[in-house]
Amino acid sequence: MEPDPEGEPENGDFKVTPWEVEGEVDYGRLVEKFGTQAITPELLQKVKRMAGEVHPMLKLGYFFSHRDFDWVLDKKEKGENFYLYTGRGPSGMVHMGHVAPWIFTKYLQDKFDSKLLFQLTDDEKFLYGPDRTRDEIRKYTYENVLDIIAIGFDPKKTRIIVDTKHISHLYPLATEIAKKITFSTTKAVFGFTNSTNIGMIGFPPVQAAPCFLPSIIEGKNTPVLIPAAIDQDPYWRMTRDVADRMGYYKPAQIHSKFLPGLGMTGKMSSSKPETAIFTTDEPDTVDKKVASAFTGGQPTVALQRQLGANALGCPVFWYLRYFFDTEKQSDERMLKCKSGNLLCGECKSDLAKGARPFIAEFKKRREKAKDVVAMFMYDEKPLEP
Ligand code: TYM
Repeated sequence: MEPDPEGEPENGDFKVTPWEVEGEVDYGRLVEKFGTQAITPELLQKVKRMAGEVHPMLKLGYFFSHRDFDWVLDKKEKGENFYLYTGRGPSGMVHMGHVAPWIFTKYLQDKFDSKLLFQLTDDEKFLYGPDRTRDEIRKYTYENVLDIIAIGFDPKKTRIIVDTKHISHLYPLATEIAKKITFSTTKAVFGFTNSTNIGMIGFPPVQAAPCFLPSIIEGKNTPVLIPAAIDQDPYWRMTRDVADRMGYYKPAQIHSKFLPGLGMTGKMSSSKPETAIFTTDEPDTVDKKVASAFTGGQPTVALQRQLGANALGCPVFWYLRYFFDTEKQSDERMLKCKSGNLLCGECKSDLAKGARPFIAEFKKRREKAKDVVAMFMYDEKPLEP
């Protein structure tokens, strides 16, 4: 029943789809394969000029690729505001990999004064997992809503859409989109086969619908920018294809890489909980996970001092770089690591020092979020145009 999506790994290569990421991802090749645009120094300058500061995740290349981000900024300069749209498939608890694009989305909301639609695809996750029950998904939907609110999005400008709860707002658009997409296209884009369940085959227009919802809310064609990791790109390729024919702007995207898990290979994933840091982890659990993380280090201290270690292949290094180090600290860390002047234990200790208070603070905000859930729900309080 599982889709057999495009981009099968060729000769031990890599594969990136909305549901699976396998192998060592070559992001440069992905830009070519998916036909996206690389983030250029000129684009970074433009962001700096307009936003005042470039978020470290953008400056340091965690967000590495886009489609029409420059166009969205041009529109903004000319006085046309853009919406942000992002989402989560509530199949488990939230980990730091999920939180990364949301932190960046908050930066965009703050700097560009954008309204945000946040979709929870509880339908997708129920349909995709053969053993998942509706009850399980309902529980994770609520838990994930708390994480989304804890990020600190502006309650006046942010609405959460839970697919099964708010479907009446999406369905008219989804049917318009679905009517323009053939089974053969979805097979090519998502790799669906004859054994994929028909719920999954019909689902993509539901994830596409929020790309056009802002135009309906605002009563005029409205630009939309989607910050997400690159795995979601197939949805946007499909949506961009129908946008013109429906008379809407094509949704723009800004794509991130994957936050690696703390194990030897692979992205951070709920299916490998021992290598992922969850927003609900206890401090001791965070410590334990960090202590047993894989690093780019040598087998012995003596060898490390002599040969240096491999920062670029080390998840602890990347974790520190994107979340807790300043650029200067991170550059220095890399030099010291490569020259054998830094031991893995020191980096692990720095990571634990960063992650423990981050998670502790995040948990407090999750608790507070419980009181304001209704305020964020699409139905309870519609966004004002
Ligand atoms: P989901 O729940 O798989 O992922 C939620 C968001 O986290 C990103 N992501 C990661 N980013 C960095 N490192 C990782 N290890 C990692 N794992 C996941 C995903 O790219 C995503 O941005 N179908 C979607 C839900 C959705 C959505 C959207 C996502 C609906 N509308 C619009 C983005 C934008 C899903 O299941 O995401």
